[in-house]
Amino acid sequence: MTILVSGGAGYIGSHTVLYLQQQNEDVIVLDNLSKGHRGALCNLKFYEGDLTNTALLDKVFQENKINAIIHFAASSLVGESMEKPLDYYENNVLGTFHLVKKAVEYNVNNIVFSSTAATYGEPKNIPILETDPTIPTNPYGETKLAIEKMLKWSHEAYGLNSICLRYFNAAGADPEGRIGEDHTPETHLIPIVLEAALGQRDGVKIFGDDYPTLDGTCIRDYIHVFDLAQAHYLAVQKLISDGGCDVFNLGNGQGFSVKEVIDTCRKVTQKEIKAEVSPRRGGDPAQLIASAEKAHNKLGWKPQYDSLETIVQHAWNWHSTHEEGYE
Ligand code: UFG
Repeated sequence: MTILVSGGAGYIGSHTVLYLQQQNEDVIVLDNLSKGHRGALCNLKFYEGDLTNTALLDKVFQENKINAIIHFAASSLVGESMEKPLDYYENNVLGTFHLVKKAVEYNVNNIVFSSTAATYGEPKNIPILETDPTIPTNPYGETKLAIEKMLKWSHEAYGLNSICLRYFNAAGADPEGRIGEDHTPETHLIPIVLEAALGQRDGVKIFGDDYPTLDGTCIRDYIHVFDLAQAHYLAVQKLISDGGCDVFNLGNGQGFSVKEVIDTCRKVTQKEIKAEVSPRRGGDPAQLIASAEKAHNKLGWKPQYDSLETIVQHAWNWHSTHEEGYE
């Protein structure tokens, strides 16, 4: 198969690209490198540019016989989206609009979309099911939900097949240590704690310890980035064999508090890591835990690296050997 991966130089994108290459698939990457790293990719055809560049999209679709698209390219920071909602609508909704329009024009009928648990907002039930209400509490989740709906209506009108994958908290790195997570600025908990372990930060701020959870800190469902990569491949295969339009949660179904994550990082790194409680961060739900039963049953997805210690170990292997990231 030939698979076009938009945003393939980013964190989850690059791990998915590597996974697809390991399955001997042909991968083409389109990325504007605003957040991604060219150094995360090798041995593939690369187009640098934006999804709003329709001439570039024409070139990509004309030069390649594409069987499926995996669409990651997006802005993905909850806090930033609260300050710059229009940037999120432009980059996420408008960018996807152009990609989907070209996919329909060139008869590329299969698209796997990178969605998020942020589409649910503050959950009513734990674990969260795909059928639960979607009431996003920030523009980021709102733009991802708008795209899910764009894909649903495009399925009905044009026969465009799609699978939306709602990730919970992506973490970890390539188990073989070839690539990893490198964001600027970093806002995610695990890499921040590992940077503190490396002495690159003074310590870690715990955003609130007065949530209605056992230790008062927020609970998240951490999922290994390579398990996410596997799910994308299964989703492409499902679209090619059965078509359709569907949504799946991707998580481990297990929650860990911020304090538990910090303790696991201390254990893995064998470093003292200072942590202090600071005020809550706006827009953080107390608890997000997935039910991924549907992905297990319908995609045949089985996460391989489901222990938090393994996830942190793989992240640490990369961070401790790439202190400057891809620089
Ligand atoms: N946290 C801290 N200190 C930090 C950083 C984070 O206490 O320095 C806390 C956060 O408040 C939150 C938890 O650690 O309670 C996890 O925070 P992350 O920033 O790592 O992840 P989020 O849960 O905010 O968001 C991530 C993705 C989103 C996605 C969401 C879905 O970044 O894109 O998971 O669960 F929507």
